[in-house]
Amino acid sequence: MIKEKIQKSELWQYVETHRQNIENALREHLPLAPPKIETQFNEAVEYALFSGGKRLRPVLTLLGAELVGGKPEIILSSAVAVEFIHTSSLIFDDLPCMDNAGKRRGKISVHEKYGEGLAILVAIGFLNASYGMVFVNHTKMPKRAMQAHAEIVECVGASGMIGGQSVDLALAKSANSNGFLNKDYNIESVRNLKTSALMRLALRLGAILADAKYLELAHLSRFAELLGDAYQLSDDLLDLEEDGAIFEANKTFAISQGQETVQLKLTNTIDEAKRILIENFPSNEARNCLIQLTDYLAERKV
Ligand code: IPE
Ligand code: IPE
Ligand code: MG
Ligand code: MG
Ligand code: MG
Repeated sequence: MIKEKIQKSELWQYVETHRQNIENALREHLPLAPPKIETQFNEAVEYALFSGGKRLRPVLTLLGAELVGGKPEIILSSAVAVEFIHTSSLIFDDLPCMDNAGKRRGKISVHEKYGEGLAILVAIGFLNASYGMVFVNHTKMPKRAMQAHAEIVECVGASGMIGGQSVDLALAKSANSNGFLNKDYNIESVRNLKTSALMRLALRLGAILADAKYLELAHLSRFAELLGDAYQLSDDLLDLEEDGAIFEANKTFAISQGQETVQLKLTNTIDEAKRILIENFPSNEARNCLIQLTDYLAERKV
């Protein structure tokens, strides 16, 4: 295992320092309907966004900027965009036609509480709001903002999250038919696409807006892909620990390969991810935090 001598609490200190700014910015940009539209839409928007998310992805955006020498303050609205996209993806993910999850973060899921129709509108509302957010504070740097905007389009689209979720749907179906799994198809390369795409967006958005160089962005992409893999593997292990039964119908890697294999793959992925950071970026606070965040995935309990 690669071990870097860093203060154990550096990451959580960083999260602590920025948490309030992130929460304030999320509230400031909340995609609310005008007050004359008196439905439960606004209530559902608040419910979906302020229900105990760890906010790791917006933190990644700030770290992505700092890693290449940028300032976190001016990219805060892009960090908000990333959390909005995450929130929207979870609302969609929980719907009856997807994972059919009645609970999220220990609370009733949005569609169970407000109905499917409103849940879909809220999810699209978050997604819609996210696209313009990269221009806040960056109107004088249109090139960077346009690149950031294109990055969101790619992350959400068919080659990113949407494509990745379609793989999960196919895998869930194949729990009955097995057709998809038996195809001569490199499933490993797309299994965690839904999660990796958002990790990539979170990290690269900050870096792009901080004017990162092409090579720095390429290294960040590789790191993000591994971080996404590690994130999803640890999530699958947690799901399995919590309730293996619900995932019998949803063939995650943990179900199909067994816990020990997944644990080993997780350890290797984490080592490889850290190696990329250490070999390609100078030692600084942001790099230390990212290394710690990668390690945290191996031990996380939520
Ligand atoms: C859950 O992510 C969805 C996956 C990608 C596995 P998080 O655990 O980071 O979600 P929060 O903290 O509830 O927002
Ligand atoms: C969802 O993955 C990830 C996205 C929606 C992009 P999962 O279905 O594994 O997430 P949880 O377990 O419901 O949080
Ligand atoms: Mg899912
Ligand atoms: Mg799910
Ligand atoms: Mg899961």
